[in-house]
Amino acid sequence: MNILFIGDIFGRPGRNIVKDRLPGLVKEHAVDLVIANGENAAGGFGITGALAEDLFDLGIDVITTGNHIWDKREIIDYFQSADGNQHSPARRLLRPANYAPGMPGWGVYEGRRNDVPYAVINLQGRVFMAANDDPFRVADQLLKEIRAKVIFVDVHAEATSEKLALGWYLDGRVTAVVGTHTHIPTADQRVMPGGTAYITDVGMTGPYDSVIGVQKEMIIARFLNNMPARFEAATGDVRLCAVVVDCDEQTGRARKIDRLMLT
Ligand SMILES: [Fe+2]
Ligand SMILES: [Fe+2]
Repeated sequence: MNILFIGDIFGRPGRNIVKDRLPGLVKEHAVDLVIANGENAAGGFGITGALAEDLFDLGIDVITTGNHIWDKREIIDYFQSADGNQHSPARRLLRPANYAPGMPGWGVYEGRRNDVPYAVINLQGRVFMAANDDPFRVADQLLKEIRAKVIFVDVHAEATSEKLALGWYLDGRVTAVVGTHTHIPTADQRVMPGGTAYITDVGMTGPYDSVIGVQKEMIIARFLNNMPARFEAATGDVRLCAVVVDCDEQTGRARKIDRLMLT
């Protein structure tokens, strides 16, 4: 089974490059399942139900997110629209599973592809981020309940150490642990000894003529003067960052992880 994971889709430039390049990627890599982080899909800040469904229509099966999930308030209604309806597309939009109990939305999706059960888990780190529940122990808890062998984990976190520690912690128990959030791709993709594919950060799908997606002049000014300012999404040098994980669908263990950066 080949799983394509696309890193943080940032604004319209990110959505457009996904639209342009996804069909070719699916063909070229014989992709069976497409997962993407969409926390920055709406102008760089959050995602709406309409944008989530646009991304589903482009061929993305499951969307993960992170700390920007609540930026567009209407996403709460979108999650609530799926209450009690397992088949609503809103169930395929995730927010981190280790948020406080009772928050809107879900942190895990369980589906089937070509008769193979799979699960997607979204977690958020705690180092240099909001103090959510422990992602390590929440992962343990979730893995007790998931029956699928193919389990894909998006760890949305700032610190490389926390992501790598989670990778080792889950090695041999899940198919892949991939990092998102920093918007900077790392070159450390590998299959760990237990058969878990790992990368610290997949990288952003969006404008690289920027500072992590935002117009660079605004971020430079912030560093120079510390004045509050509205951040605007950049538009130039758009790239798509992703990984393809090839796994054995019987055991759920990864054979290979390849990193991609498309212009
Ligand atoms: Fe992001
Ligand atoms: Fe983030």
